[in-house]
Amino acid sequence: MAKAPLLSCLVLVLLVGILEATPRTPNVQVYSRYPVEKGKENIVNCYVDNFHPPKINITIEKGGKPLKDVKQSDLSFDKTWAFNRLVYANVTPDGEEVACRVEHSTLVDPKVVKWEQE
Ligand SMILES: *[C@@H]1O[C@H](CO)[C@@H](O)[C@H](O)[C@H]1NC(C)=O
Repeated sequence: MAKAPLLSCLVLVLLVGILEATPRTPNVQVYSRYPVEKGKENIVNCYVDNFHPPKINITIEKGGKPLKDVKQSDLSFDKTWAFNRLVYANVTPDGEEVACRVEHSTLVDPKVVKWEQE
């Protein structure tokens, strides 16, 4: 009788271990805070979620060059150990391409997602 709780406890520990160890590739979303207007300062958000392990590089590029003044939220995770992070920067759209570049161990090449300015 006393075996059952012990067993389910063991199963839980194993399950958490598996979830924690499974690499997951980041999902990337790029969007602005305000409607896009050429020449008007905006905030571009790059929200990256559902990744594991937590080691990640996220940069926002404009015209192919990384922006220096980029802020980021703390790394946080949900109950399945998937991590997420928001990176954002002030950007004034002027026709140059703006994109979010993500480097993660599950990606062979960096994942580059363009900001749709249309
Ligand atoms: C993040 O960037 C640093 C420096 O360029 C690099 O050494 C590291 O491997 C990168 N991390 C990932 C997860 O790609």
